[in-house]
Amino acid sequence: MKWLVLLGLVAFSECIVKIPLTKVNIMQETLGEKGLLNNFLKEHAYRLSKISTRNSDITSVPLRNFLDLMYIGNITIGSPPQQFSVIIDTSSSDLWVSFIYCQAPSCSKYLRYNPKTSSSFQSDEGKHIKLTYGSGSITGVLATDTVRIGGLIAKSQTFVLSMNKLSGALEQAPYDGIMGLAYPSLAILGTPPIFDNLNKNGIISEPVFAFFISSWPHKSSLLMLGGVDHAYHKGALKWVPVTEAGLWQITVDRISMNRKVIACSGGCQAILDIGSSYLLGPTDIVRSILRSINPSPLQNEQRLISCHRTITLPPVIFTINGMDYPLTRKYYIQKVSEDICFITFNGGTENLSPPETWVLGDIFLRAYFTVFDRGNNRIGLARAV
Ligand SMILES: *[C@@H]1O[C@H](CO)[C@@H](O)[C@H](O)[C@H]1NC(C)=O
Repeated sequence: MKWLVLLGLVAFSECIVKIPLTKVNIMQETLGEKGLLNNFLKEHAYRLSKISTRNSDITSVPLRNFLDLMYIGNITIGSPPQQFSVIIDTSSSDLWVSFIYCQAPSCSKYLRYNPKTSSSFQSDEGKHIKLTYGSGSITGVLATDTVRIGGLIAKSQTFVLSMNKLSGALEQAPYDGIMGLAYPSLAILGTPPIFDNLNKNGIISEPVFAFFISSWPHKSSLLMLGGVDHAYHKGALKWVPVTEAGLWQITVDRISMNRKVIACSGGCQAILDIGSSYLLGPTDIVRSILRSINPSPLQNEQRLISCHRTITLPPVIFTINGMDYPLTRKYYIQKVSEDICFITFNGGTENLSPPETWVLGDIFLRAYFTVFDRGNNRIGLARAV
């Protein structure tokens, strides 16, 4: 099917790499064949249900899977509601959407927030702020208004109205902003993140959220707020403590393949991040893993491998809190074309602290249903259905 080939190409040429640069924020570094992506968007703009289902105490928000690279959900801001599509991110804590005064060409195509038409808008004295992500920064002003997600209402939510969007291929993605679900310690100027607002005001019954994310074109993906729908995982959840309440970071015992430790010998840290597409680690370690998996790369690109040679590749095993979490090649290899496959490992995390920190992005989260438990500062993991 055409889109599959295209999808792989896009995934490869985009090479979305998300590298935390500062404690403030993190986002994708993208390189990119914009033409391809544009065509893809024109041809495949698709529809998902806009109905959020409230199942007892759990609010399920449908997410749009954008090319297996990011997951995007709808929110509204203001009264009457203005709708926005936001990239869901667990490694930042701010919410921002495009401002009506954003002049960047990429802003005009999408929705922009207009404070003049919202009766619940409150000004924050035009406080100018800057959010720094891996691929650039957002500048804008703080504002406060009512934000709705999946029928839940966060009153007096402070967010950022941005004057620009992130550069690179993300400009082409169908989004109007980013919603961060990390801890409040990372939020700009100490403003309470939306999840904290919902929790503090008793809008959600339990301080947890979880994702079920599928790969294109399977069943739609979901963000669950306030509870966990156990129909989306197999076996019991295994709990892992969060190392430090900031990012959703945990300790990994080791990473192995074929019974050989390939990384993280002696333990390391890992950030669970739905805002990252791939598996990221320190550049030199990733390089040596890639060399051992793929001794004869295609087109001089260490991550491109002949698909027929991937058939015998063993699972990559992440051992966390004494439990093994294997990722079979089905998860960590993506098809670019009939014969060309892509290994979804990326370098770039060596500037994080500690130096051996991994980012377990969508590749990992598609295999393992993940619960983010703010009440107990822990992560729950179980095989996704
Ligand atoms: C978001 O809203 C748009 C416009 O109403 C709709 O077409 C789209 O399907 C929605 N996306 C999701 C993931 O619910």
